[in-house]
Amino acid sequence: MGEDKATHIVWHDGLLKAEERRERLGGRGCTLWFTGLPASGKSTVAAALEQVLVYRGIHAYRLDGDNIRHGLNRNLGFSRVDRAENIRRIGEVARLFADSGCLALTAFISPYVIDRENIRRQHLKNDLAFFEIFVNAPLHVCERRDPKGLYQMARAGQIHGFTGIDDPYEAPPRPDLVLNTAEISVEDCVRDCLGLLTRHHIVPLLP
Ligand code: ADX
Repeated sequence: MGEDKATHIVWHDGLLKAEERRERLGGRGCTLWFTGLPASGKSTVAAALEQVLVYRGIHAYRLDGDNIRHGLNRNLGFSRVDRAENIRRIGEVARLFADSGCLALTAFISPYVIDRENIRRQHLKNDLAFFEIFVNAPLHVCERRDPKGLYQMARAGQIHGFTGIDDPYEAPPRPDLVLNTAEISVEDCVRDCLGLLTRHHIVPLLP
C-alpha cells in the first residue's frame, strides 16, 4: 500500500503563493500531531484545544483516529502495514489542511517513529510547521482509564495486536511538547499547546 501506481500525472500549480494566501486569509496553518497510547488523552486534549482555538476565531480542525476509521480509512485494520497506511493518509490530509491555512489537530496512536518522521519530513519539505506532541501517560494509567473497555478485552485475548499490550508503541525521541496527562489537567494541556503555538507565532498572544 502507498506505492506509486498513478502514471502520466502532471502537477498543476495554483495562482496563489503560500504567502499571499496567508496575507489574504490572515492565518498560518500547521499540524499538531498528538501521539500516544490508547486512552492517553490524545482525543480529549485535541478536542479541548480545537474548541479554544475556534472560540478565538482561529481555524482549527481535528482529525481523530476512531472517527477517520469510520470513513476515509474504514478499509484499514491494525496490522503494521495498515497502521502505516492509516498514518500516511492522515499525514497527507493534515498537510493539505495546514497548507490551506488551517491548524490540523490529529489524534492517532501512530505507534511508529518512522511513520511520524515521514510526515514531519513531508511538512517541512512543503514549508509547513509540524509539531509532534507526545501525550504521555504510563500504561497502567491508560489501562485503568480504559474508557472503551478495549484494554480489558486485549488482556482477555479478545483483541489481538492491541497497542501497549501485544503491539508496540514507540515514544517520540524528540517531541516538540510532552503532555503528562496523568499529572496535569486537560486545561493545563491546552495551555501548554497554546504556549507552543504562540512561541512559534502560529497564534497571537492573548491580549
Ligand atoms: S493507529 O495505530 O493506526 O494510529 P488509530 O489512532 O487510527 O491507530 O486508532 C486507534 C483506535 O482504534 C483506538 O482508540 C481504539 O479505539 C481502536 N482500536 C481497535 N483495535 C485496536 C488495536 N488493535 N490497537 C489499537 N487501537 C485499536
